[in-house]
Amino acid sequence: MMALTVANLRVDFAGKGGTFSAVRGVDFAVAEGETFGLVGPSGCGKSTVLRVLAGLNRTWSGQITALGQTLVPGQAMTGTLRSAVQMVFQDPYASLHPRHRVARILGEPLVVRRETAIPDKVADILVQVGLSPALALRYPHQLSGGQRQRIAIARALLLKPRLLLLDEPTSALDTSVQAGILNLLVDLKQRFGMTLVLVSHDPGVIGHMCERAAQMAAGRIEDILDRSALAALA
Ligand SMILES: Nc1ncnc2c1ncn2[C@@H]1O[C@H](COP(=O)(O)OP(=O)(O)O)[C@@H](O)[C@H]1O
Ligand SMILES: [Mg+2]
Repeated sequence: MMALTVANLRVDFAGKGGTFSAVRGVDFAVAEGETFGLVGPSGCGKSTVLRVLAGLNRTWSGQITALGQTLVPGQAMTGTLRSAVQMVFQDPYASLHPRHRVARILGEPLVVRRETAIPDKVADILVQVGLSPALALRYPHQLSGGQRQRIAIARALLLKPRLLLLDEPTSALDTSVQAGILNLLVDLKQRFGMTLVLVSHDPGVIGHMCERAAQMAAGRIEDILDRSALAALA
């Protein structure tokens, strides 16, 4: 089954000089369990595509299905899709509440969902992302960049996503820390049975991680790269 199908996706932004077409008719499909990449230079529309898929940008046209459900432009995601599709951003510092401890950052979405045994679930997910449960007492500024990104990944995982969207998840990190996060994602994908869509401007990251990838330029997909094409990038 396809986890994701995207057909003729277009996104326009209104600006001073008129309309700017950031995404100009994009088509791709991602199989369940696949790691699919979007690669291309800064400004080519990768994040815009991902934000549409995450339901964060609702002004678009085209046809999209995610996990068997149809997305509708202008409408918020409903029901199971809201937790089944999760996104991790480039800058974990910006996406974590600065004055909340990790325990609260991770626990709050579970409180909202009226779950029980939340401290146990928080401790368990910290271990799953390779961190000590003791970090639950820390604030984001007391963590390293790599630890913060692991917290952001943990927060997404707690909602048990089936489709995980990753926007430059290692671009803000030191090279020495990047590999650890990428290997963790490979590991978690297997353990949690997820489909990944990974955005990066770095061909090395895409080549290392993905089974297939779309090469984007100026709002379009120029090429779909298979495993052997990706091996040449890595
Ligand atoms: N909210 C917005 N309003 C206006 N223009 C935007 C907005 N978001 C992105 N853009 C423009 O759309 C293009 C694609 O941006 P983006 O998807 O962020 O590219 P990438 O992630 O590949 O670097 C860029 O030219 C960017 O300036
Ligand atoms: Mg981007």
